[in-house]
Amino acid sequence: MPLADIAAAVGTPVYVYSAATLRDRYRAIDEAFDGYPHALHYALKANSTLAIARLLRALGSSADANSIWEIDVARKAGFEPSHIVFTGVGKSPEELECAVSLPLKAINVESAGELARVEAIAARLGRTARVAIRLNPDIDAQSHPHISTGLKINKFGVPVDEARALLQTLKSRPSLALVAVHVHVGSQITSLDPLRRAAALAAGLSVELRRAGAPLEYVDLGGGLGVSYDGREVPSGREYVSALVGEVRRFGLPIVLEPGRAIAAPAGVLVARVVDVKPRDDTSDFAIIDAGMTELLRPALYNAFHRIEPVSISAAPERRYEIVGPVCESSDVVGRDRLLPRLAPGDLVAIRDAGAYGSAMASNYNRRPLPAEVLVEDGEWRVIRRRQTVDDQLALET
Ligand code: LLP
Repeated sequence: MPLADIAAAVGTPVYVYSAATLRDRYRAIDEAFDGYPHALHYALKANSTLAIARLLRALGSSADANSIWEIDVARKAGFEPSHIVFTGVGKSPEELECAVSLPLKAINVESAGELARVEAIAARLGRTARVAIRLNPDIDAQSHPHISTGLKINKFGVPVDEARALLQTLKSRPSLALVAVHVHVGSQITSLDPLRRAAALAAGLSVELRRAGAPLEYVDLGGGLGVSYDGREVPSGREYVSALVGEVRRFGLPIVLEPGRAIAAPAGVLVARVVDVKPRDDTSDFAIIDAGMTELLRPALYNAFHRIEPVSISAAPERRYEIVGPVCESSDVVGRDRLLPRLAPGDLVAIRDAGAYGSAMASNYNRRPLPAEVLVEDGEWRVIRRRQTVDDQLALET
């Protein structure tokens, strides 16, 4: 599907997703279980554009939501409450009330205080809340510190000893039904070792609890599998799943996973147009494009690397570029020190692997409109989110 055609029709910047890649990436993880009991709860935070969420639902995916609003979108996309797990380190009273009354497959509880709040709501509503306890295993995911969540110094979950003590109390709390132990140690993890260790810990604790009489239904091992942004090898979906199943199989517990990035990242590109080129230093130029930290925050926020390629094949000699966005900040760099065929205003570039945490993290800084999104499917394309207008923004204001 020529990206230039889409850019000409819809304008830039535009996110373009491949339905086929989304399906392939989902199935690669799903089929790697080889019949071992499991459920994939796609992490909506990676990309919850309605058409994408619907596509995953149609494949049989369940959902992992991180806010009441993601729960809303999930339900509009066809996910039943019983197919949604709800994680999040700061769930408000309104969010908890909604989660208990739906009721969801599980509320993944992050502290003793939150557990008590869930219990009080469930008691008041005359319901039994299905809860999982999120462990903080003090395991280093060896990823970027901003997206590592499994160390003691991170705000997430409950340390193992505290979790054990908390779990003991559940026997005498009739408004709470403990359904699982949950762990998620970070994102963009490219070594299986931390994932394996977290799985072993969560499965071990689950079995301890089962022996003590808790009717656990599954173990939730979170998300986190990384993708290759730069072409270096990363574990495949199959290697990932077999590492996890290897830790859990002897206990016979079904596995829940919450993959986001591994499914969505490689399925999307951000197409942008060069608006200006100007000299930077003796060896490089700035190429200023019409997408920046407002459309794709990852490079500015995590110094993340995304491949950037010209959309049309060019025979022009290569030149070194600092590829930057139009936003009034020097942190608004999309790609540093990139060799590309000589660029001119009007040329199109594609920023690769932008399907996860791209549009989902976009903002209106500088009053820039949220970009359009397009889904390519069976040789055709369609707009799945139109470009925002300034009037859309002002509709909220007086
Ligand atoms: N489950 C929980 C509880 C999570 O916190 C996350 C991601 C996931 C699942 C999905 O993880 P994944 O499979 O996508 O790695 N904005 C950052 C990523 C933040 C991830 C937050 N939590 C980025 O652009 O790299």
